[in-house]
Amino acid sequence: MKTIVISNRKGGSAKTTTAVNIASGLAEHGSVLLLDFDTQGHASIGVGCDVNEELGVHSIFSGKTLSESFMPTVHKNLTLSPALAFFDVYEYSDLSGVLKNRFKVESIAEFFDYCVIDTPPTFDAILKNSLEVADSVVIPFVPHYLGVVAVGQMLRALYQSATHLRRNIAEVYILPVMYNPHIKEHQESINKVKKSFGEAKMLSPIGVDIKLSQQFESGKPIILDTKRSRGLHDYERCIAELLERFREVDMCKI
Ligand SMILES: Nc1ncnc2c1ncn2[C@@H]1O[C@H](COP(=O)(O)OP(=O)(O)O)[C@@H](O)[C@H]1O
Ligand SMILES: [Mg+2]
Repeated sequence: MKTIVISNRKGGSAKTTTAVNIASGLAEHGSVLLLDFDTQGHASIGVGCDVNEELGVHSIFSGKTLSESFMPTVHKNLTLSPALAFFDVYEYSDLSGVLKNRFKVESIAEFFDYCVIDTPPTFDAILKNSLEVADSVVIPFVPHYLGVVAVGQMLRALYQSATHLRRNIAEVYILPVMYNPHIKEHQESINKVKKSFGEAKMLSPIGVDIKLSQQFESGKPIILDTKRSRGLHDYERCIAELLERFREVDMCKI
């Protein structure tokens, strides 16, 4: 199983949109588990489910198993562990290693080809639990000045926690989102990120498409739309690029 964490501490940088579309897109290639770690539960809504008030992915922190929160979604290959509304991470003292332990005890990797994790815009125990199981991290960012600053901050936080966890998170991908080719600042910001953090990390941009917002109202990821859209094209290209990079990394391990 390949675990992909979608993260950026900057709010509104399309983490949830990316998590929903990568998860549902990968479901065309294999079985996928989506963990909605943001208590707002927007990823859950995006795959046709509700935020849960009694049982969700956060329940693992109060002694529940991960798999008891699993529920089917609108995509037959996509299973969701929904957000637990009102979960307060600060009510707990030591939460480290809980998700990693659940993965191991419940042999989660045997049941899924991919796990996609949507994270909240905070650097707390939830993100740390996610990083403890991450094979790769995708950082979506809106290509403007503060978006570029946020990527730098996120990368620093990632490398810091990798040192702390004594774990190498080798695969980091940076994904420009809400890209408009007619805005000069967008291209300049993407070039800046490439130059500062390495071209090899960059994925092709996701353009602006209102369909990517509307899909949350219908609870149906755009991959299930009969009509093609720009957003669908861009996320399909993103998934193809990710799969290609995963193959390259796996080849290097042999
Ligand atoms: N490519 C896009 N084109 C148009 N709107 C987008 C696009 N990506 C995301 N959005 C919209 O931007 C807003 C923030 O996205 P969201 O995924 O919720 O970000 P985050 O999870 O980082 O807070 C949402 O209203 C979403 O529908
Ligand atoms: Mg979100």
